[in-house]
Amino acid sequence: MICVPLVSGSRQELERDLREAARVADVVEFRLDYLGGARPRELLALSPLPAIFTCRRGSDGGRWQGRESDRLALLQEAVDAGAAYVDVEVDAAAGLRRRPATMTIISSHNFEETPEDVEEVYARVARLQPDVVKVVTTARDILDNLRLFRLLKHAVLPTIAFAMGERGLVSRVLTRKFGGYLTFAALRRGAESAPGQPTAEELHSLYHYREITAQTAVFGVIGNPIGHSLSPHIHNAALRQAGLDAVYLPFLVDDVVKFVRGFAAVPVTGYSVTLPHKVAVMQALDEVEPTAREIGAVNTVVRRDGRLLGSNTDCTAAVGALLGALGGRVGDRSPLAGKSVVLLGAGGAARALAFGLRREGAGLTILNRTAAKAEELARPLGVEWGGLERLGESRCDVLINTTSVGMFPRVDESIVPRAALRPGMVVFEAVYNPMKTRLLRDAEAAGCLTVSGVDWFVEQAALQFEAWTDRPAPRGLMRDIVVRTLTEREAERSRTAGSRTSGAT
Ligand code: ATR
Repeated sequence: MICVPLVSGSRQELERDLREAARVADVVEFRLDYLGGARPRELLALSPLPAIFTCRRGSDGGRWQGRESDRLALLQEAVDAGAAYVDVEVDAAAGLRRRPATMTIISSHNFEETPEDVEEVYARVARLQPDVVKVVTTARDILDNLRLFRLLKHAVLPTIAFAMGERGLVSRVLTRKFGGYLTFAALRRGAESAPGQPTAEELHSLYHYREITAQTAVFGVIGNPIGHSLSPHIHNAALRQAGLDAVYLPFLVDDVVKFVRGFAAVPVTGYSVTLPHKVAVMQALDEVEPTAREIGAVNTVVRRDGRLLGSNTDCTAAVGALLGALGGRVGDRSPLAGKSVVLLGAGGAARALAFGLRREGAGLTILNRTAAKAEELARPLGVEWGGLERLGESRCDVLINTTSVGMFPRVDESIVPRAALRPGMVVFEAVYNPMKTRLLRDAEAAGCLTVSGVDWFVEQAALQFEAWTDRPAPRGLMRDIVVRTLTEREAERSRTAGSRTSGAT
């Protein structure tokens, strides 16, 4: 079940929220500590859904500042009025007269951590024989979620258990897989009643929460930060379109080796890996495919027969996108063979591309602001290098930007002078934020063939999907999702920028 906490003050807001909640949730929670002065009886009469009545003190993360006896009297009123649920904290539970019509949730909250002895905490609550046990902790590390999964697996009573905070999101979504009684979701951003709460919209349209069962396979992206990753959007949609019983999560990870080893207990079937973990993740794997080993970075992990295998789709996807722009292979011959390619940048993205391009037989030159880094990458590959000033003198067939120049918010910058762009040249842009960078706009105007960061992102994700599922990826759908999500974000950014501007004038 999904429970939406109601925290809006006015009667009008509350009525609006209740209508909205009836669409997206199974239960509402009236947070009496937020709804200053509202009477449980009246609230109950307003609610189209079964309701939980809760009134939290400051020490439990709430806003109640009145007397304890008044607080308990409010909760008692909810029980006496026949509320479906009342939630009372473990130390206050004895003060409530229970009635059969109302299920009593007895709760424990920890805003600091997920304690080692969380099983003890559970036992203490369960001894009071509530109808539902609620144990909520705070995830300081993503591995803390595992303790809550274990708690749910061994639960003797209906149980609500999850961890708060960004690192606890996984426990809020996967609670259904492990038999949790319900999860909480905010009606909208800004209406959260606790840290790390997803919105009901996210639970439904991103994670398809109601369809999660004990059998649901788990996938996800490992990164730090991970909050703005497009991968959950693209992969959840693709897995669903393929009719697979699977969910894909963002994993905010600090220590990737410990995480991958620990989450083998879930288990997780496939990972995408992003910054800063693409190198370190290799230590946690049973096998790394030769290209990924050569590049020294893994962005894809699949579990096969209990073994974790790592590969790198960044490289294959970039080469694939370039080959596409050049008309594809002719027999065994790569259209990149013998072409003069200038690669701008010497970071992780440049590295993945450089290996792929050399394998195709391209004549490669790596140029970077810090020429020494270009040299470090180029020397072992036996290709040329230099500083960015050499860009003016090069007459290349393919030009690739892997630097962050042109990325939001510096959207009007380009590392490539217009004079360097000629008709028929292929220009590859790694940046996808914004979707159309200044470099891509200039390149189109100059009559170049272009490959965008979106093309690359979609292709690396499609190859991941194929590695995990052995099925052709729904590339059209994946592309639509990326474009839609980025368009929404770009619109949101210009709205915020617009409101800032109008505020200043
Ligand atoms: P990634 O792993 O995504 O490739 P990265 O490792 O941070 O990212 O690399 C960023 C690249 O963008 C580097 O090549 C960087 O050049 P330096 O090695 O000289 O730092 C390049 N870069 C970033 N900002 C730049 C700027 N303003 N002008 C030129 N190059 C820039």
